[in-house]
Amino acid sequence: MTFVLRDVAPTDIDALHAIYAYHVVHGTGSWEYEPPDAAEMTRRYEAVRAAGYPYLVAEVAGRVVGYSYASAFRGRPGYRFTCEDSIYVAPDLQRRGVARALLTELMTRCTALGLRQMLAVIGDSENTASIALHHALGFALLTDARALGWKFRRDLGWVLMQRTLATTPFPPASLEVRVDDPAGAAGQALLWGLTLELLAMDGDRGEDGRGAVTLGDLQAPDAVFVVARMDGQPAGCGALRPLEPGVAEVKRMYTAPWARGKGVAAGVLTALETQAVARGHTILRLETGDRQIAANRLYERAGFVRIPCYGAYAARDWSRCYEKRLG
Ligand SMILES: CC(C)(COP(=O)(O)OP(=O)(O)OC[C@H]1O[C@@H](n2cnc3c(N)ncnc32)[C@H](O)[C@@H]1OP(=O)(O)O)[C@@H](O)C(=O)NCCC(=O)NCCS
Repeated sequence: MTFVLRDVAPTDIDALHAIYAYHVVHGTGSWEYEPPDAAEMTRRYEAVRAAGYPYLVAEVAGRVVGYSYASAFRGRPGYRFTCEDSIYVAPDLQRRGVARALLTELMTRCTALGLRQMLAVIGDSENTASIALHHALGFALLTDARALGWKFRRDLGWVLMQRTLATTPFPPASLEVRVDDPAGAAGQALLWGLTLELLAMDGDRGEDGRGAVTLGDLQAPDAVFVVARMDGQPAGCGALRPLEPGVAEVKRMYTAPWARGKGVAAGVLTALETQAVARGHTILRLETGDRQIAANRLYERAGFVRIPCYGAYAARDWSRCYEKRLG
């Protein structure tokens, strides 16, 4: 039997609907009781396509006889390199290699998209056809969970199978630094990390973790707070507040431990410099402590030079103050 594989088209909906409805009414691959109507089928298909996943059909002599698609395994972004497959073949054309071809092509497409793992959540531990199909295409059995579902008046288990699509290196880190609300969830969580770290480092010297700035200082109209996100995850922060005419002070520089050594703080400093210039400042100053080895190195590498300590820091022999002329 010869068949062709191609991307799904909106005109395929009726055929997909008929195949799926058959399997809902007669099978245990889907745990729906009532077949969805064509409008719901369209909505689901559009959601898969809108998320960028492949959706394929197999055609025999102009008739759609099977389909497969990938979708997100779970919604949280940490699962973004893992997908789940779904595959359905018309009852009269099974065991002719349609599913094998659909799933093979689906894996190829998903690999090309940068997906790394494919999971098969087989909705019935007695679905020998699907289990054998996935096994034949290199999926490993992960678990066989019992009695999670109930259909046709019997308990149904789950067979979870996994296929590694790619073990290539992860994409290079993306870093984005944006002005943000210091009272927002990401800002607060980062500032909390900084507070705990300052307390651990200099609490014995009376450091209270607030670095002599309040949330109100950071929210003032002439202050700026930025959050750096690496691969979309809050990774670091920094702030700027006016010190005297033309001079701004860098405060609250922090990189979460998992993101250290990857240029986050350098990116935050660059963003703060841009903000300072836009606000007409020509000099940046900052204070750090003698135990903050990484911070001292960061500021020196970013072009800051040591100056005598200013303001209240002049009285603290463990303060280290720096300055950088902009422009
Ligand atoms: C599972 C399903 C998609 C397989 O479709 P198919 O087109 O008949 O499968 P293929 O002909 O491509 O079979 C490929 C391989 O899978 C295995 N396989 C498929 N059907 C099988 C069966 N009934 N018994 C044992 N092995 C089977 C075999 O290893 C087969 O290779 P082989 O024929 O060279 O031995 C189909 O039975 C179906 O639509 N079932 C209902 C929906 C469903 O359960 N979907 C999966 C949800 S997780």
